[in-house]
Amino acid sequence: MNIIEPHRSSRRWSLRPTRLSHRTPLAVPREPATLEEVLVTYKLYSRRRRKQNSLDENIALRDLAQVMATHPERLIDTVLQMALELCTAGSSGLSLLETLRKHVGASTPRKFSPSGVTVDRNAAQLFFHPAKRFQYFDGLGCDVVETLLVPVYLGEKTAGTIWVVSHDEEVKFDSEDVRIMNGLAKFTGCALRLIQTSQAQQRARVEGEKQIAMHKSTETKLRATQAGLETDIFARKAQLQQLSARLMNLQDEERRRLARELHDSAGQYLAGIQMNLAALMRSEPALSAAGKSRVSDSIILVDECTSEIRTMSYLLHPPLLDELGLRSAIAMYVEGFAERSGIRVELDIPDDFGRLSSDMETAVFRVIQQSLANVHRHSGSLVAYLRIIKDGEFVTIEISDRGCGIKPEILHGFHSSTKLAGVGIAGMRERIESMNGDFDIRSGEGGTTIEIRLPLRIAEQFSTM
Ligand SMILES: Nc1ncnc2c1ncn2[C@@H]1O[C@H](COP(=O)(O)OP(=O)(O)OP(=O)(O)O)[C@@H](O)[C@H]1O
Ligand SMILES: [Mg+2]
Repeated sequence: MNIIEPHRSSRRWSLRPTRLSHRTPLAVPREPATLEEVLVTYKLYSRRRRKQNSLDENIALRDLAQVMATHPERLIDTVLQMALELCTAGSSGLSLLETLRKHVGASTPRKFSPSGVTVDRNAAQLFFHPAKRFQYFDGLGCDVVETLLVPVYLGEKTAGTIWVVSHDEEVKFDSEDVRIMNGLAKFTGCALRLIQTSQAQQRARVEGEKQIAMHKSTETKLRATQAGLETDIFARKAQLQQLSARLMNLQDEERRRLARELHDSAGQYLAGIQMNLAALMRSEPALSAAGKSRVSDSIILVDECTSEIRTMSYLLHPPLLDELGLRSAIAMYVEGFAERSGIRVELDIPDDFGRLSSDMETAVFRVIQQSLANVHRHSGSLVAYLRIIKDGEFVTIEISDRGCGIKPEILHGFHSSTKLAGVGIAGMRERIESMNGDFDIRSGEGGTTIEIRLPLRIAEQFSTM
């Protein structure tokens, strides 16, 4: 059983009682008294009860209430001090069954001590010269004439005892002291409850602070990881953009080469065949009727073949683009497109449009080609509008149709960059963004509009890179 440091009365006892301990008594060993010999509780009720001191008690209770409200941690000390004063005792103390370490002063055997007996009997007990039975009292260094103990409760459970000790043969406890001590035991119970609660709060606070610190550190780590990932994604995106821009340049080069090959070799061979066939036709008398018809058919086939090759070569890379620039190449392309598709194209491009860098002209031409191909393949529109404007800083291109519009899920995939339906739109966007331009699609029931804005200067810088 743990014992709170006893309080001593300055009025009634001048000796300095020490804390209870297991020190070996110096006295000559003697036979311990029986419990019945030292336990004199019955005397409490046979003695004449002293008069109640209501004034002192009221002052004490008021002081206690104040301490409880303002300094609950001092409540036990105050209760023990009041026990001393109200019972005119020599010393007082609190013995606890459970450990409240902050208040522990010493310990006594639970099964063999006045406190143990009081807890077992669950009522106030009075001991007369307890040292005769509990020999460890000898180590206190002062006489214990009487000790009065009352149980202290923590809720339903007994938590220990509070006690007062008389060191003076003249000072004896009576039932009035029992009444006072029972009252003070209630305050002690409250104080213990407050201490327990505040310790629990303290533990919860420490735990909470630990958790917050852990969360903060996890959050910091997550942020660092996220920042690392973002940098990684950014770098990879830039690499991909560079790669696709390079691929598109290579593709443009390859198309240009193929177009030239088709025009210069296959085209020239066909021109030669055409001339030979024409010469053969001119030697008419030497040909039979059937032979003449075959030559005539061949001339038609070679014509068609030449026209096909020219168109193919032109679609791969319009020669006008390099020679006369975007305006002429677009005008010619639009004318051919309208013829092939049956879609009327309204072209709005200023006469004095001028030239752009070669890369930029190719990029704009390809985007227009792709957009018109989409109008033809997907929109169902009978008309398309193409507008190209150039001011000091930007080239703006707008291609629109009056068709069915792009399906919302495809449009959402484009805007969120999560899903691509084909490579056409994705490729257009890549081209434009790689030249620091803006690419946007608006689409609804009234049709689709693609809007592109390219900065002239940066695009020019880019084209020289
Ligand atoms: N003008 C348009 N009107 C209606 N739907 C369109 C239009 N342009 C594009 N779309 C829709 O958007 C999709 C994606 O177009 P995109 O050009 O990227 O691919 P694609 O034309 O299907 O294939 P490709 O890779 O050969 O170009 C199309 O499949 C079509 O459903
Ligand atoms: Mg397409």
